[in-house]
Formats: sequence, structure tokens, C-alpha cells
Amino acid sequence: MRVLVTGGAGFIGSNFVLRVRANRPDWRLTVLDAMTYAANPASLDPVAGEVDIIKGSVTDPGLVDELVAAHDLVVHFAADSHNDNSLQDPWPFLDTNVIGTYQLIQAVRRHDKRLHHISTDEVYGDLELDDPARFTETTPMNPSSPYSATKASADLLVKAWTRSFGLRATLSNCSNNYGPRQHPEKFIPRQITGILDGVRPKLYGEGRNVRDWIHVDDHNDAVVAIIEQGRIGETYLIGADGEHNNRDLLALILELMGKTADWFDFVPDRPGHDLRYAIDASKLRAETDWRPRHADIRDGLAQTIAWYAANEGWWRTAKAVAESRYAQVGR
Ligand code: NAD
Ligand code: DAU
Repeated sequence: MRVLVTGGAGFIGSNFVLRVRANRPDWRLTVLDAMTYAANPASLDPVAGEVDIIKGSVTDPGLVDELVAAHDLVVHFAADSHNDNSLQDPWPFLDTNVIGTYQLIQAVRRHDKRLHHISTDEVYGDLELDDPARFTETTPMNPSSPYSATKASADLLVKAWTRSFGLRATLSNCSNNYGPRQHPEKFIPRQITGILDGVRPKLYGEGRNVRDWIHVDDHNDAVVAIIEQGRIGETYLIGADGEHNNRDLLALILELMGKTADWFDFVPDRPGHDLRYAIDASKLRAETDWRPRHADIRDGLAQTIAWYAANEGWWRTAKAVAESRYAQVGR
């Protein structure tokens, strides 16, 4: 099978490429990535020569048409992905996440190919901290940030194309990923790399916000399961029952890195900051054989910390850029 992976030089996309190379050797992979600030081509070094890597944008209709025509399946990871950045400059999010997805589904439709669209639990908005409810596939969309609004828009386009044009697509909405090769602008790698540099971690607001953490390999295994076992036209929520508030999660990172639990600073909150995400992945578990393998976040975090400690060259430049951006908004 010829597979086009958009955004394959980013965090989840590069881990997908490495994992699929190992687990599905008969899939021939092409990466289409604009190589924005969020990409790190070094993430694909282990598969150099085994995967075609094309620098280009999903917003380029000619390039997208040519590439989609030459592949059987498109796995669409490419996105502008960071909430904080979307508050400062929303346009790239509209361009890549909405227009880019439009260009892709038009090409998939023209050439009658198979698409798997990657999305986020953030399209559902947030839950109260004391609410026992979790998101399901029927939860109404209610996005809070420019980022999540563009992801919801993209999801709606894919859904409309499946209904109106018979697009052969599946969709998945996953919770917060962690693991190796995540950009140091994001919470977990920002704190790990900061602690390695002797800098105190920064918690937004009161640190009470809850995220439902999943290891990136568990996310990507679920994507493969949906591609192989999911039903066309369906959405699947992906999550591994990993709810933690930011303060508790940071305390675990501090403990694993030999610091006391109070070695951090509170900083001003993110505007519109979603309180809590929580995924009910019953449908995915009922319709596929997927089960998460990284049930213990302590082990997953220890592995992630070890990876950042051993790969300073991978994150050093990106961290400097991310921190200068945070400094502009006092976070
Ligand atoms: P990331 O920012 O690490 O990587 C995104 C990649 O897309 C980068 O390599 C970037 O260069 C590329 N890209 C950006 N604009 C592009 C364009 N116009 N054309 C082609 N490539 C472009 O993001 P990530 O965390 O790996 O997220 C990947 C996908 O998974 C996104 O769709 C995101 O919404 C979704 N998602 C992420 C999480 C998470 O916790 N990180 C959770 C659920 C869903
Ligand atoms: O839920 C899935 C989403 O998870 C994905 O769609 C997004 O692409 C991904 O970035 C992530 O969004 P979040 O906004 O939840 O992730 P982030 O890593 O930015 O922040 C996680 C939590 O930590 C959030 O409550 C904000 C908080 N935070 C973040 C940073 C960077 C801090 O307290 N301090 C920080 O320095």
C-alpha cells in the first residue's frame, strides 16, 4: 500500500512513520511536510532512504493533487497545532488546518482514495473539573481557541464530504499526546527541557486544568487499527484513561528529575484556557482490537525524560525560539 503522510516531520507524524516502518513493512511511505518551525527533519533520520520526504504545503492544490493521485491512502496529520500560538496569530491555523484540509479532501475525492483524518478532543470544548462526564463521538462540537475552531472546521468538512460525495474517510479525535520528538513549546517537553537547563517550570493559572494523557505510540497504534478495522464515514475517539491535572503531572516530572514538588512558578493563565478534557474510547475498543500499551504514565514519562536528556541537539534551537515567543506574552 502506498501511503501519503502529511505532517510526517512533526511530533505525532514522525512517530507514526517510525512505528509504521517497523510494524507495517509493506506500506510504502511518502511524507508531505511544509517543514514549518514545528517540524524537525532529524526525527526522520532513522528512516532516511526508506521514506520519500517532500517539502511542500497541503495548501498547494497542484502538489496535493499529484501526490494524492500517486497514493492509495492519505493519513492527514499536518496542522498548526499549538493553542498559545493560535491566540497570537490565528491566520496560519486557518490556512493549513482549514484550507489545507479542503485541498486534500478535494484531491482524495477526485482520485477516489482512502483518507484518515487526524483530529483532537479539543473540538468538543471543555468539561467542568467535577463533572463525571467524558467526551464521546456524539458530544456536540464547542471549540474554545482559534486552533480548536479550525480543527473542528476541518472535521466538519471531512464529514460533509463523506456524506455528500461518498468520500472514503475515517476520522479520529485524540487526547493529549506525550513522548519523544514533541516540540519543546508543549507542556511536558517544555518543563523537562527547562529542568535539564536548571530553569523552574511554569504552571498556567492555578495548575488545576486536567488533560487526558496518552503515549504517542498508543495514539498511532489506534490510527492504524482504525485504518484497518474502522468503518468508513465514522469518527473514533482515542484516549487511554490518563486524566491528570497539570500540577500533579508536574509534581511527577519533578520527582522523576530529582526536584522537590514546589520547584515551579505560577504564571498568568492562557486566555480561554480549557478546564478539562476526558475521553470515552468505548467505541474504538468495541470495534477494533486496539488496547493501550503504555498504561503507566510514570514509566512513559521516565522514558520521555531519558529521551530529552539524550537528545539535546534535537531540541536546543527549537527551545530558544519557543521561549522567546513565551517571553513576549509573559508566560
Ligand atoms: P506538530 O506541530 O508537532 O506537527 C505538525 C506538522 O505539520 C509539522 O511537521 C509541520 O511542519 C507540518 N505542517 C504545518 N503546516 C503544514 C502545511 N501547510 N503543509 C504541510 N505540513 C504542514 O503537531 P502534532 O502534535 O504532531 O499534531 C499532529 C496532528 O495531530 C495535528 O493534526 C493535531 O491537531 C493532532 N493532534 C495532536 C495532539 C497532541 O497532543 N499533540 C492530540 C490530538 C490530535
Ligand atoms: O487535547 C489535544 C491537544 O493537546 C492537541 O490538539 C494540541 O495540538 C496539543 O498542543 C495539546 O493542547 P494543550 O493546549 O492541552 O497542550 P499544551 O501542551 O500546550 O498544554 C497542556 C496543559 O499545560 C494546558 O492546560 C496548558 C498547560 N501549560 C502549558 C504550558 C506550555 C502550563 O501550565 N504551562 C506551560 O508552560
